[in-house]
Amino acid sequence: MSSFYDALNWRYAAKRMNGHTVPADKVARILDAAHLAPSSFGLQPYTVLVVDDPALQATIREKAADQPQVTECSHLLVFATWDPVEEAHVDELIERIATERDVDPAELSGYRDMIKGTLQQRTPEQRVEWAARQAYIGLGTVLSAAALEQVDASPMEGFDPVALDAVLGLRDRGLHGVVLVALGYRDTETDWLAGLKKVRWPRERTILSIS
Ligand SMILES: Cc1cc2nc3c(=O)[nH]c(=O)nc-3n(C[C@H](O)[C@H](O)[C@H](O)COP(=O)(O)O)c2cc1C
Repeated sequence: MSSFYDALNWRYAAKRMNGHTVPADKVARILDAAHLAPSSFGLQPYTVLVVDDPALQATIREKAADQPQVTECSHLLVFATWDPVEEAHVDELIERIATERDVDPAELSGYRDMIKGTLQQRTPEQRVEWAARQAYIGLGTVLSAAALEQVDASPMEGFDPVALDAVLGLRDRGLHGVVLVALGYRDTETDWLAGLKKVRWPRERTILSIS
């Protein structure tokens, strides 16, 4: 793969996968990409669950419009927002920054107050919506990282979020599933989408130069 641009052209959201296992080192690097993704305030208000149990994947598939890639993939990633997003999370973040950078937490009080002030302006529902936007930055970073690893990554919003939360016990962990990613390898024999031209709007519709 010669460039990031080539990787983006190579990737597509595979609908059928061949069941081959993605090597652990590749999975680890793809997950590192989620871990390193930027987020507003650096709060990273989401968790990525990694499912590689075939029985559990089969149960999730039932809640995900019977999409084959859920069971044909090697690893199923579940991006789940923190729900609720609480001010205690901000305190934890400030402690973490202070420890990692060896600074007095008191020096970060302005930053702490600024983040809390922003959260206070939002309803609990808006906080979770905001957290989902952060999770989607992780999603995009993972899709790109997977492409660079020559691993197919199929994003999916087509699932029943309440049912998924129940299957994985997410509510008990203070989490709420927002988007899935199937990691694996495309099955070029069975995937009707394999080999079809990538379709995007004309570039000038997406990228507008204002001068
Ligand atoms: C957030 C998100 C959710 C998606 N959900 C689904 C889905 O549930 N099922 C599916 O087959 N494709 C899903 N897709 C794939 C898109 O249809 C696909 O990315 C889009 O058509 C662009 O094509 P490409 O990614 O293959 O280049 C989703 C994509 C994104 C980014």
